[in-house]
Amino acid sequence: MVNSEFGNMAMISFNPESCINCGICIDICPLNLISDNNYNNSTPFMPDEMDNVCMKCGNCEAFCPENAISPQFSTQYSQLSETTSPETEFEQLGLYMRRRRSIRNYRNEPVDQKKIEDLLDIVRYAPSGMNKQPVNWLIIHSPEKMQKIISLTIDWLREIAESTVDHPLKPVFPSIISAYESGDDPVCRGAPHLAIAYGEVDDPMIYTDCVVALSWFELAAPSFGMGSCWAGFVKVAASSYQPLIDELNLPPGHVLQHAMMFGCPEYEIHNIPGRNPPNINWS
Ligand SMILES: Cc1cc2nc3c(=O)[nH]c(=O)nc-3n(C[C@H](O)[C@H](O)[C@H](O)COP(=O)(O)O)c2cc1C
Repeated sequence: MVNSEFGNMAMISFNPESCINCGICIDICPLNLISDNNYNNSTPFMPDEMDNVCMKCGNCEAFCPENAISPQFSTQYSQLSETTSPETEFEQLGLYMRRRRSIRNYRNEPVDQKKIEDLLDIVRYAPSGMNKQPVNWLIIHSPEKMQKIISLTIDWLREIAESTVDHPLKPVFPSIISAYESGDDPVCRGAPHLAIAYGEVDDPMIYTDCVVALSWFELAAPSFGMGSCWAGFVKVAASSYQPLIDELNLPPGHVLQHAMMFGCPEYEIHNIPGRNPPNINWS
């Protein structure tokens, strides 16, 4: 069955009026699901039986120069402007990405939930293995819940510090605990919120997908006036410390994969620090 009729209920519709048979959609499909009947100049199509194989990445739509492809699952989010110069974008993007910093001082004010939702609406475009989009978010928004997570993370640090268990950061645990006891927040650095990316414990790719999504979160945050920092202690504590696991109360079979503190930065960034040159090998 060929689904080349524009507007029918096929999973991906190809408009024969606008299609110029350039073949880009055929080249671009990651699973080679699009065909044009062996190059006979007919409008491309995806056989109906491939509906369940298609990973709905939307690349056929994204790369079609004639806007001739309409997936049923498409959100038709926006068409890219033809007037934006790639050179300007490249320079701006380079500056933007180099300016990203881990933020460890936050203003004592909550971020509006709508703003966080708008940020996550961009982050959902992060790549994921097989486009499974398996990342779930738990956003810690209430100050009480933040305090509880921080104090349970400190309890875990105390437990490890007093035990014979080895941990690479164990030598710094006493100073972290005493900073907490004197009223500082060495775990979430006074951030008002925590973004927890979680997913199924048995999914072999979930950790990578969550870390990729959080990286997008971190990169997009400054454009919303926010800053963030990986919450390494929360992540490690939540991997084994049952009271913290209970407090997070994630759905059965799901675990915290990684977490990021975030909020409005207290300080402005004025400089971009140096970094090692890239270690590139060619072969
Ligand atoms: C996986 C991961 C875990 C991290 N955990 C913490 C953390 O627990 N606390 C913290 O202050 N920074 C944490 N960081 C931030 C790093 O220290 C930071 O990225 C690094 O020092 C470079 O600074 P920059 O992010 O400003 O370029 C973490 C970063 C990564 C990638």
